[in-house]
Amino acid sequence: MKKAHALVGVVFGTAFFGAGISSAFAADETLRSLADKNNIYIGAILNSQWFGGGLPGEYEQIHKQQFNIVVAENEMKFDATEPQENRFNYNSGDKMVKYAKENGMRVRGHALAWHSQVPNWVNNYKNDKQKLLSVLKNHIKNVVGHWKGQVDEWDVVNEAISNNEPMWRSYSVWYQGIGPEFIDSAFVWTHEVDPDAELCYNDYNLEQGINPNAKAGFLLEQVKRWVKNGIPIHCVGSQTHVEDTTTDKHFIGSPDSLRSLAKELAKLNIKLKITELDIGFKSGINVSQSDLERQGQTFRQYLDIILEEPNADTYLIWGVSDKWSWLSGLNRQKGLIYDDNLKPKPAFDSIMVRLQTYEPPKDTAKTDSIAKDTTAKDTTAKDTTAKDTTAKDTTARDSTDAIRLLAMPSSLSMHIAGRTLSINGATSRIKVDVFDMQGRPIFSTENSSGIFDLSKIAEGLYIVQARSGSHKIVQRVNLK
Ligand code: G3I
Repeated sequence: MKKAHALVGVVFGTAFFGAGISSAFAADETLRSLADKNNIYIGAILNSQWFGGGLPGEYEQIHKQQFNIVVAENEMKFDATEPQENRFNYNSGDKMVKYAKENGMRVRGHALAWHSQVPNWVNNYKNDKQKLLSVLKNHIKNVVGHWKGQVDEWDVVNEAISNNEPMWRSYSVWYQGIGPEFIDSAFVWTHEVDPDAELCYNDYNLEQGINPNAKAGFLLEQVKRWVKNGIPIHCVGSQTHVEDTTTDKHFIGSPDSLRSLAKELAKLNIKLKITELDIGFKSGINVSQSDLERQGQTFRQYLDIILEEPNADTYLIWGVSDKWSWLSGLNRQKGLIYDDNLKPKPAFDSIMVRLQTYEPPKDTAKTDSIAKDTTAKDTTAKDTTAKDTTAKDTTARDSTDAIRLLAMPSSLSMHIAGRTLSINGATSRIKVDVFDMQGRPIFSTENSSGIFDLSKIAEGLYIVQARSGSHKIVQRVNLK
């Protein structure tokens, strides 16, 4: 389980912004190293082609370099692990657990009780409640028992809520044959077998609001009941299979809605995990560079939830490269952070820069304990320059809403008034570089006065880096 450690300031200084995108970051910084620094998990599935040995070696190289948590796309599901009654097959899951241990990764188990990918022999018992209960209990006892201490968290129940109205999914064999209490039983049995594993309820379309007639609203009522009844549930997994809103105006999911679910779950001491993220475009349309950059911003907004909400710790993407993705089955495309040629997309850059520039509020550290301080933390960007003893005219500083001290200690200080940037504390010539949130160089200048005119830069959020001699300061600035 992830160690709890005080969060250290993210030292932005080692990032080098080259002309290209993928060269924009220092070689020693990866999503994984920055996830570790921020005490969160960032991961991706090992897809079925990996298990079959049908992938280029680069896929695995990227996976173990960039991610610190892993889940099998299909190989730990009911049909894969118990294809015949009481005959278990752990080979593929063992291969993934071995890979994870060799590469120091956390392991997600997906999924124990689900209406889909259930072998036909189970459906034979759909009218026999006691038999179905014993089938489910036996499956959990064997599968969770086999990987006890090796699988850190389980999707105990997956997609048990109907998609269209706030009620249980009626056509699930488990619901039909047992009733909704199959859920309570599944959690209790899993916890009995592996008391150290984190146990999640996992579902999709949970990013569409928490009003009572929304899926997440219905789920919240169930979680409150499970918690009250002492059911050992520790987390909710939000699959977060979303569509780029400009290509599908009907898609109503949003990061803000998912954050509101996280905040409600925090009140119940329940974690929120993003477990199957992809942000697709409708199939068949032309996806432009600006579409991909907008997609990157959405990826970043979901990552913000994991960084900023104290009860959120996992950001798992349902694939590595667009070349191998289930999305085509959903009439979507290009939903991941690497392209068909395994090259990083703007989405990779967006989340990388976000991780590099994130500086958590000093008083809270994400810890692994579930029962941690979950009082809603004020996550709005604070103007930390107020502590800067050289701080001068506060009205000038208030003109931006996102100046945050990000870099290592330095004699330099940065202030902005409108479009005039001032750098104080320098003893030699000052070089200023401005980057967009994907780490692309936008503007560069230098002088000895320390006063710089940024009026040529369009409105928006930027990373501003000032260097003078051995001193450097980096701040995120919102130019209005
Ligand atoms: O293993 C068989 C293979 O023997 C056969 O030749 C081949 C051709 O039909 O099918 C293979 O099984 C496929 C399986 O993936 C393994 O590749 C199934 O047909 C196919 O339906 C299955 O799709 C998976 C899907 O779950 C099933 O519901 C996707 O790969 C997987 O990405 C997707 O993942 C789900 C999560 O588990 C739950 N959340 C939603 C997410 C997307 O649907």
